[in-house]
Amino acid sequence: MKIAKTIQEMREAVRDARRGGESLGLVPTMGALHEGHLSLVRAAKARCDAVAVSIFVNPLQFGPHEDLANYPRDFAGDCHRLEGEGVDFLFAPSVEEMYPETSVTYVELEGLSKRLCGGSRPGHFRGVATVVAKLFHIVEADLAFFGQKDAAQVAILRRMVKDLNFPVEIVVCPIVREPDGLAMSSRNAYLNPQERKSALQLHRSLNEVERRFQQGERDPASLIEAGKNVLAQEPGVRLDYFSIVDPDTLVPVTGLTRNALVAVAAFVGSTRLIDNAVLTP
Ligand code: PAJ
Repeated sequence: MKIAKTIQEMREAVRDARRGGESLGLVPTMGALHEGHLSLVRAAKARCDAVAVSIFVNPLQFGPHEDLANYPRDFAGDCHRLEGEGVDFLFAPSVEEMYPETSVTYVELEGLSKRLCGGSRPGHFRGVATVVAKLFHIVEADLAFFGQKDAAQVAILRRMVKDLNFPVEIVVCPIVREPDGLAMSSRNAYLNPQERKSALQLHRSLNEVERRFQQGERDPASLIEAGKNVLAQEPGVRLDYFSIVDPDTLVPVTGLTRNALVAVAAFVGSTRLIDNAVLTP
């Protein structure tokens, strides 16, 4: 695996590799890799001749009082995992390399950037869209792989690619869960054993919404109410939002005649977790 720490090294490495017309897949990450990330790498391996992974904890997508400084980091372990998956290129730039001076250019998606997590984390999706746009320009991949775990991120990046004509196809991979149902996340590492138990309530609340939906409930407000009630049963969990939205626009739905995204965000102790499910009529 070729490790590039500068933009120039990365550009040169992938351009050399693609002289023969090989297809290139990109898996952007912030590291502390788990099976969710590795599922994207495997999907990329299956569809592309060569695979690049990026590891960059992007300061632009963290708010001033968020966990940027404490965000889990394990570069040696990540390299080992990616070698094991047969990854060809790892792009691991420093903050100075990606942002040599304070940016004045950002990718902001009007309306979309402020929905779901964008409501409680101002500037978060602007930071995500900006860094992913930079990564797309640096790596010039044919396909880029993202997880359904971050469903709002997917909606935003799909729209960015469409609006700005990026020549890349976005591939979305299913949520990978722990055996008990907790969605895998680098932030699960923050949870103590009691919080780890409480965290399961997010998945339980989604299951309850899905169960009622299967039984024929079609009123979004009642489903949201049912999901919130399940969350409220666990005192260790503090709700951020529980919404049922259009998967593309992230606008709350008024009916359930088309696919809808049920998205939940909640604090377990001081750790903010998200999860979601899709309701298909
Ligand atoms: P990060 O949280 O490291 O996630 C990297 C990719 O892994 C994202 O596409 C995310 O949706 C996917 N992923 C995380 N947990 C998953 C799970 N349990 N199942 C399936 N996929 C999962 O998302 C980011 O980083 C950043 O915002 C980034 C896109 C890299 C931009 O900085």
